[in-house]
Amino acid sequence: MPLVTTTEMFKKAYNGGYAVGAFNVNNMEIVQGITEAAGELKSPVILQVSKGARAYANHTYLVKLVEAAVAENPDIPIALHLDHGDSFELCKSCIDGGFTSVMIDASSKSFEDNIALTKQVVEYAHAHGVVVEAELGTLAGIEDEVVVESGKESYTRPEEVEEFVSRTGCDSLAIAIGTSHGAYKFTAEQCTRNEEGILVPPPLRFDVLEECMKKLPGFPIVLHGSSSVPQEFVKMVNQYGGNMPDAVGIPEEQLRKAATLAVCKINIDSDIRLAMTGNIRKYFAEHPDHFDPRQYLKPARQAVKDMVAHKIKYVLGSDGKI
Ligand code: G3H
Ligand code: 13P
Ligand code: ZN
Repeated sequence: MPLVTTTEMFKKAYNGGYAVGAFNVNNMEIVQGITEAAGELKSPVILQVSKGARAYANHTYLVKLVEAAVAENPDIPIALHLDHGDSFELCKSCIDGGFTSVMIDASSKSFEDNIALTKQVVEYAHAHGVVVEAELGTLAGIEDEVVVESGKESYTRPEEVEEFVSRTGCDSLAIAIGTSHGAYKFTAEQCTRNEEGILVPPPLRFDVLEECMKKLPGFPIVLHGSSSVPQEFVKMVNQYGGNMPDAVGIPEEQLRKAATLAVCKINIDSDIRLAMTGNIRKYFAEHPDHFDPRQYLKPARQAVKDMVAHKIKYVLGSDGKI
């Protein structure tokens, strides 16, 4: 099947109590690792491209890689999504250039300015058969050029979501309930420590999610900043010459719970980076004489595939849902 929008995916996910994974893609190995896992598990999947990814790999290369993945996996629904679009022009360029979904992230603007920009993108996108994700509330962490310190984030205000959605006409809404971008989602002060000294983060604000669900029955909610920062990868990075002390993510069981509620799209990027970096570091340490990129990118691609397969089966619950 050709690239799809997220409309059908989200309807099925909402009613089925699971979520679709939205994984960031920056090169061929990442596209292959994600879609091989989704293809084998018969799972829908969203491949998302950030402004930074476009600057790194070039729009056309990324679209062609995704088209190749669609051709190789004809049975599964694949959507191509712009992650954190920050202007009308960027969204328009992706809509005109073959994306089936865009995010306009005006969450750092005032409520009224967020509505005005989102509405402008929605009008153009819908006229071209493309769906739009918007955001209310701010996450901690780094989103392209916007940096929000841990503790300075603001949760979504449930009393605003209904007006926002009805005035903008957006198709899904990213909300802030305590997730955060990057591999350092919480400061040590925000966490407790377990017996092994590993940081245990504060729980997500399910009360905020449930309030938003009540205001928007049946409407798909999106969670950004949802990497779990698996400690096996952090240990691997640190064991083979890296230095990532106190990297911490969102516990998988909390994401699983969110997926059974209104959360239909769960964004994962940092876990891909960790899986690749841990395995490449290990490979270099064990094979100091190797220099063919295919040698070290092969285990990195396999690690992405295994990690995505784990998420699909045990976190998202989207296996077999095509
Ligand atoms: O939320 C941000 C994503 O992880 C994309 O990151 O802007 O470095 O490509 P990036
Ligand atoms: P992570 O940094 O938790 O992987 O979040 C990715 C994301 O939200 C992309 O938009
Ligand atoms: Zn994000």
